[in-house]
Amino acid sequence: MAEQDNGQDRMEKIVSLCKRRGLMFQSSEIYGGLNGFWDYGPAGVTLRRAVEQAWWTFMVEDRDNVEGLDSTIICHPRVWKASGHLDKFSDLMVDCVDCKRRFREDQLESPGVCPACGSKKLTEPREFNLMMKTFVGPVFDEEHVAWLRAETCQPIFVDFNQVRIAARQKLPFGIAQIGKAFRNEINPRFFTFRSREFVQMEMEFFCRDDESMQWFDFWKDARWEFYTKVLRIPEPRLKIHWHEKLAHYAKAALDIEFEFPFGWGEIEGVHHRGTWDMSRHEEFSAQDMKYFDQERNERYYPTVVETSCGLDRICLALLCNAYDEDMADTKKEGKDEDVRVVLHLPPLVAPVQVAVLPLSKKLEEKADPLFRALRRRFRTAYDVTGSIGKRYRRQDELGTPFCVTVDFDTLSDHAVTVRNRDAMTQERVGLDRLETYLDGLVHA
Ligand code: GAP
Repeated sequence: MAEQDNGQDRMEKIVSLCKRRGLMFQSSEIYGGLNGFWDYGPAGVTLRRAVEQAWWTFMVEDRDNVEGLDSTIICHPRVWKASGHLDKFSDLMVDCVDCKRRFREDQLESPGVCPACGSKKLTEPREFNLMMKTFVGPVFDEEHVAWLRAETCQPIFVDFNQVRIAARQKLPFGIAQIGKAFRNEINPRFFTFRSREFVQMEMEFFCRDDESMQWFDFWKDARWEFYTKVLRIPEPRLKIHWHEKLAHYAKAALDIEFEFPFGWGEIEGVHHRGTWDMSRHEEFSAQDMKYFDQERNERYYPTVVETSCGLDRICLALLCNAYDEDMADTKKEGKDEDVRVVLHLPPLVAPVQVAVLPLSKKLEEKADPLFRALRRRFRTAYDVTGSIGKRYRRQDELGTPFCVTVDFDTLSDHAVTVRNRDAMTQERVGLDRLETYLDGLVHA
């Protein structure tokens, strides 16, 4: 229980920091907010874009066998009939007769008791479809209904042949896409963890069936490497949860989970999807979705191995992992005994990688050109207001790994002090080697 309270306390601090520093905050706040929708402020959008770019580089740009796609959010409604979403994408929900609130049945802590008011009067479980509905065209009737995509992968299956031909790819190869997905979640919760609008980063890998489990293992390992080596999340805070119950067409499925302050939560799924999607789209579109394998002189549906993660959940995991409070040597930096709130974000994704801090406004003539030069190479901020101690704290809270302080000595020795967020060291570095020095640290 104490641990849970600590977790809750930690989570509240993270949510509060995110709002205070403009990382993420409730959408439409002046109207009371909209449950399950979150906006990303200046620092948040930069973090999100950096993670997105890291994923794209790792999954697409650094590989010869994965192609990119950016499809529309609204697709032909039959896509969702074929995928099974319109018939089966639902959660079982119960309503509380007394307080009128609605809950997912599988999330009730004790079955038959309302978690909000304690009433025992809950309705029988009912199916609740999670697809978000809209209309295309001026007439709002059933004929014009369309759906906001609930996952980004379906258009990848639909566009398989277009991409394959355009990119002159042969099996095995993958198609990757980053984009918005929408789910009318019954209980959005845990900050951005379960949202109604979120970003998915998915890659569908098309291969021969008899090679599909090798590819499954390959992608499992690759995705683990992404979290531990690229995003530098410590291994003990991640685990793999193998699914015991599999869809009838699947040979394997697993979740990569992160230890959030509120408990372990899924950040990614690696799924063997068999030939289900391709055969269903053939059935519903009446187009041939099979692949002709010249080497084997065979025609068959490609088997699909999927890696599917949520960008918002990864950002939240990174923030939860990075959040820390310490009693670092604050006196040295002009502050008394205060607690330092710091985000130990890896430089690759930190919203600001380098902050240029002139000790005095009188040094702006020297500091401003330096800031402009560094900005070409790094995500750089400039801050001249407040005591240097306060400015370090501001950067710590945002997760800035390196602060470059320009002082009066800089005018004569042509050097600056580089302060390291994590080691809390300060090193004097000559201006002539500053870029190379920072490059070594930021892109290490
Ligand atoms: N195409 C397979 C698929 O969509 P999923 O397990 O439903 O699989 C994949 O979703 C990932 O999308 C999850 O691991 C999670 O990171 C993210 N995700 C799913 N629902 C989400 C939600 N309501 N809010 C934020 N992220 C979500």
